[in-house]
Amino acid sequence: MIERADGERLQKVLARIGLGSRRVCEDLIDAERVTVNGEIAVLGARVDPDTDVIAVDGAVLSTVVGAVTYLLNKPAGVVTTASDTHGRPTVVELVPDDPRVFSVGRLDMDTEGLLLLTNNGDLTHRLTHPSFGVEKEYLASVRGRPSRAAIRRLREGIELDDGMTAPAKASLLEPEVVRITIHEGRNRQVRRMMEAIGHPVERLVRVRIGPLADRSLAPGEWRTLTDAEMLDLQRAVTVGASQEELTEPGTG
Ligand code: URA
Repeated sequence: MIERADGERLQKVLARIGLGSRRVCEDLIDAERVTVNGEIAVLGARVDPDTDVIAVDGAVLSTVVGAVTYLLNKPAGVVTTASDTHGRPTVVELVPDDPRVFSVGRLDMDTEGLLLLTNNGDLTHRLTHPSFGVEKEYLASVRGRPSRAAIRRLREGIELDDGMTAPAKASLLEPEVVRITIHEGRNRQVRRMMEAIGHPVERLVRVRIGPLADRSLAPGEWRTLTDAEMLDLQRAVTVGASQEELTEPGTG
């Protein structure tokens, strides 16, 4: 591996992006699970997180310096686009404007609940790309009480005009409230699925994105992710590295 005189220590970069404590990151390097630009890294190596490609178990990590990620509880009536031609309020107006951030995926104007905003394009890509399969969980208040057969249809997959949906996790939480978890993120997917089973959505709230949930955020409130949440998120979008492997390197 090419030695840099400048740059940041690799274990520090790994810890900063939330891969685990400094000690955990050192163990990952010792176990030869970390590569920099395709070569096995050594402890103490200096890297440039802006240009070097850092991977754990072959999965390239997102190391953008100065990256911020907010978790927002989006209220109804706010649009997810960066600017709206009709002058409607937008989600970016609800969070600090410097550094400039973008929403990770979209929620319909009338959908409420958790939305991530970040300036980290790589993280956005991983969270929205279907191959990473990050789960999104919704509570859908619907018109009428869906039968068990209707719930089963959600679980098995539903033919929509843009093709079959992947099997969803679905259950009836209350007589007219469905808890549904999907990982595809097609346009208006939950609304169209509920429409297809004959129970149109009256209110839709996203309550979880992968490992992230927060019942205490009021509508319109936001906060930055904690280090532990960043770690969980990095794990959720790091292919080939299970949670246990990253927390307990070299054991088991
Ligand atoms: N599914 C929908 O139908 N709308 C959303 O906003 C999110 C998921």
